[in-house]
Amino acid sequence: MRSFLEVDDLTVEELNRVIDLCLAPNPPKVLQGEGAALVFEKPSNRTRNSMEMAVHQLGGHPVYIRGEEVGFDKRESVEDIVSTLSGYYKCVAARVFDHKILERMAKVELCPIVNLLSDEGHPMQALADVLTLVKEFGDINGKILAFVGDGNNVFRSLAMAAGMLGAEIRFAGPSYYRLSDIDKDRLAAVGVEVNEFDFAQDAIDGSNVVYTDVWTSMGQESELEERKKAFEAFTVDMSLMEAASPDAVFLHCLPAHRGEEVTEEVIDGPKSRVWDQSENRMHASRGLLTWLLSEGQQ
Ligand code: CP
Ligand code: NVA
Repeated sequence: MRSFLEVDDLTVEELNRVIDLCLAPNPPKVLQGEGAALVFEKPSNRTRNSMEMAVHQLGGHPVYIRGEEVGFDKRESVEDIVSTLSGYYKCVAARVFDHKILERMAKVELCPIVNLLSDEGHPMQALADVLTLVKEFGDINGKILAFVGDGNNVFRSLAMAAGMLGAEIRFAGPSYYRLSDIDKDRLAAVGVEVNEFDFAQDAIDGSNVVYTDVWTSMGQESELEERKKAFEAFTVDMSLMEAASPDAVFLHCLPAHRGEEVTEEVIDGPKSRVWDQSENRMHASRGLLTWLLSEGQQ
């Protein structure tokens, strides 16, 4: 039973195959007459809506479930919840605070599990990100991706996906908010190295992609003020974008906080591809589900 909890659940060959399926105009109706459970412990705009539409496009019925309604390990155990849901649905996708919940769900092995964002990763976002870059550049092998800000869930999955496709990965952010050695070892296992910089300008210099995420992720709200201080030198603004390659694009997973991690001029400017990127969430979800529910289980 294959699940999709992080990008390295796919080989490079499978990742390329998923991208091809994201681009395919007439996807097979792999969910015809079936359903998919979408469980959310945290809020969502893009992930919920793109997944619901992808399930619909594959002939299936998406059911949104609030995390507190099923109550992981509160109302009943994670294992009992997923055992129940697997009786109704072809797959269970979940956005959780603790990544271990997803691992426990996958271990039950009654249906494929999809990570819709956890404290560790956001692989569905990363698929949409590389899809956006493949559409922009054709091939991202050798392109330079500079991530500025918090080395958190979004960056971990993005570095893996873009790095597996041959992009050079650079990171600039405060030393306390960088990838751990464990993260780096996991990236190294799929041939990905992250070059770290103290200054955003040095990471962005000559890059083809500039990417940032919020400074304070969902669940970290009590750290808001200390994070604002720690990240104040890492706002992506026009002068930083000028250090990038002339063909550079700006990406952000969204939601964005204009005036914090990015200025209005950049995110709403001509180099920004954030709306293509957010639309690509739907195409990426459709491609991944198509693969996971067919070839992925063979
Ligand atoms: N980028 C992303 O995952 O957005 P949502 O939190 O709105 O789903
Ligand atoms: N890092 C952010 C991403 C939101 C899509 C968070 O976890 O809140």
